[in-house]
Amino acid sequence: MTDAPHIPLRFTHRPIAEIEARSQTFAEQMATRRTVRDFASTPVPRAAIEAVLRTACSAPSGANQQPWHFVAISDPAVKQQIRTAAEAEEYEFYVNKRAGKQWLRDLAHLGTDHHKPFLETAPWLIVVFGARYGIDTNGERIKHYYTPESVGIAMGMLIAAVHQAGLASLTHTPAPMKFLNEILSRPENESPYLILVVGYPAENCQVPAITRKPATETTSFIE
Ligand SMILES: Cc1cc2nc3c(=O)[nH]c(=O)nc-3n(C[C@H](O)[C@H](O)[C@H](O)COP(=O)(O)O)c2cc1C
Repeated sequence: MTDAPHIPLRFTHRPIAEIEARSQTFAEQMATRRTVRDFASTPVPRAAIEAVLRTACSAPSGANQQPWHFVAISDPAVKQQIRTAAEAEEYEFYVNKRAGKQWLRDLAHLGTDHHKPFLETAPWLIVVFGARYGIDTNGERIKHYYTPESVGIAMGMLIAAVHQAGLASLTHTPAPMKFLNEILSRPENESPYLILVVGYPAENCQVPAITRKPATETTSFIE
């Protein structure tokens, strides 16, 4: 340890039985998360979005640089702009087959296409940007470390927070997404990562009948 200032850790020590029960309960709760593509227009108060964003902003990050920016949008005019721009990109992707045959084949089981009504129907869009580098007060570049990893971890925490709050989300990545910088006036050093669509699912919402690999297939232990 160096002489960099430290403070006591706030940590609750729990008996192992409680740890097992809590981790089991959380796994069961998170297993019910599904990506939703059919949203209700039911409003969600800004306070709930602020709270889930606080969870995202508490994520670990390379050198604690927190190289992210979240833009939360409920303004119907801005949502409409985003839908129009996203659908134009998605038209190229799906209809003019910019994705290529293989990618379109791999997506077929999800039933997605270039129509993105949820970008207007859902009460909130959270657009996530990752700062490839920072800029100091003199306008000089600040090197950032592990931006994609840090933003990905913050996104995972955001998605978990949204689900735990009782809301649904869709991770949406129209490609390319540079139009988001223009519409949302974000600077050149920030790259858009994704749009997290947040709200209540529509009544009788259906989701693709897909399965997940059992965790035993994608995890291993060395003990
Ligand atoms: C990085 C990433 C990008 C995604 N992009 C899209 C997208 O653009 N459109 C979409 O409908 N779903 C998108 N998804 C959602 C996935 O299709 C979905 O997570 C996957 O099919 C598993 O379904 P589940 O989330 O219900 O478990 C994306 C997910 C991730 C993690």
